[in-house]
Amino acid sequence: MTETSAPERAPGPAAGTHGPLLRALHLTKTFPVRSRGAFRGGRTAFTAVDDVSFDIAPGETVALVGESGSGKSTTARLVARLMEPSGGTLEFEGRDLSRAKGSELAAYRGEVQVVFQDPFSSLNPRHTAERIITAPLAYQSVCGKEERRERARRLLERVGLEPEHAERRPSQFSGGQAQRIGIARALAVEPRLVVCDEAVSALDVSVQAQVINLLRQLQRESGYSYLFIAHDLAVVRQIADRVLVMKDGVLVEQGTRDEVFGNPRHPYTKTLLAAIPRINPAWERARRRRAREAAGQETTGAAQATGAAQAADAAQAADAARTTGAAQTMGPEGTSGPADTGQKTDTAQKGGVHE
Ligand SMILES: Nc1ncnc2c1ncn2[C@@H]1O[C@H](COP(=O)(O)OP(=O)(O)OP(=O)(O)O)[C@@H](O)[C@H]1O
Ligand SMILES: [Mg+2]
Repeated sequence: MTETSAPERAPGPAAGTHGPLLRALHLTKTFPVRSRGAFRGGRTAFTAVDDVSFDIAPGETVALVGESGSGKSTTARLVARLMEPSGGTLEFEGRDLSRAKGSELAAYRGEVQVVFQDPFSSLNPRHTAERIITAPLAYQSVCGKEERRERARRLLERVGLEPEHAERRPSQFSGGQAQRIGIARALAVEPRLVVCDEAVSALDVSVQAQVINLLRQLQRESGYSYLFIAHDLAVVRQIADRVLVMKDGVLVEQGTRDEVFGNPRHPYTKTLLAAIPRINPAWERARRRRAREAAGQETTGAAQATGAAQAADAAQAADAARTTGAAQTMGPEGTSGPADTGQKTDTAQKGGVHE
């Protein structure tokens, strides 16, 4: 963050690249904070997002990963222009919207929507699903009441719920269903880019897989781009075309999913990858090789290297047990499994594990 004078950065988008849907260039966000220590009580600036550059192509899923506090949600809020950047630019289809206001900003908010982590806290508990889903349409005066009602029912069906669910309130839905309502609300204004900020993180693992399958299906049907924020790399591996790795406000690595998972370059990415379960054998071989290399650097003893790999395997086995549901419903190359039953399973889980 502010203290790191010359952090190691991933190269930004290639110069001369044409036609991204969204382009963030040198995006920076600082927050005023009270200083501590000798200058206690004074004001200083904390840089939450530090000179971040990346592209999102039409129809592409770009994952943003990093530890808690690394600046992912701040980046999401900048991309959705829920806050103004302190520096850098944000272009959407070549238009600079970094400092857009008024009608220009309102129009942009129709192009970019956000799905948040906790479906219940992001949905008004007093409103029906229909009112929640159509709120953006009502706000933007896109259509009249009858048309909104009809659209709400169509959207419910699109996200795997029943039109009759329109009358229910959030407390009458399971976690997975409530997140489908959040997705329906995001899609109501027919955006081009959907920012999913830990949108599946709070869900039970099998429901998580269903919601990911839904997002992918919607993408196939309508060509949405996603900025998909998650701290769980097993989830990212299932959905991402490209991966951005963030640490202390800085993008330290970016590349295709296979590049980042198969040949991570930054030590921080290697650390993040060290404990995720095996799905793709090639990635798994690369991971085991890295574990051996890391152990070898420290000890040069082959026995200890084997021990490190075994320890990594033990951690992995524990993780694999946790993600078995996701692995069963989803292959690494994006194939949906038969368990993508959408609403039925969500309903079945209602009253069981809190999703
Ligand atoms: N409005 C704000 N004022 C001051 N600091 C802020 C503000 N919003 C975020 N921050 C700080 O910026 C840093 C990045 O926060 P951010 O929410 O973007 O992290 P994150 O990567 O999304 O973390 P998590 O995985 O926990 O959601 C944190 O240190 C946070 O405390
Ligand atoms: Mg966050």
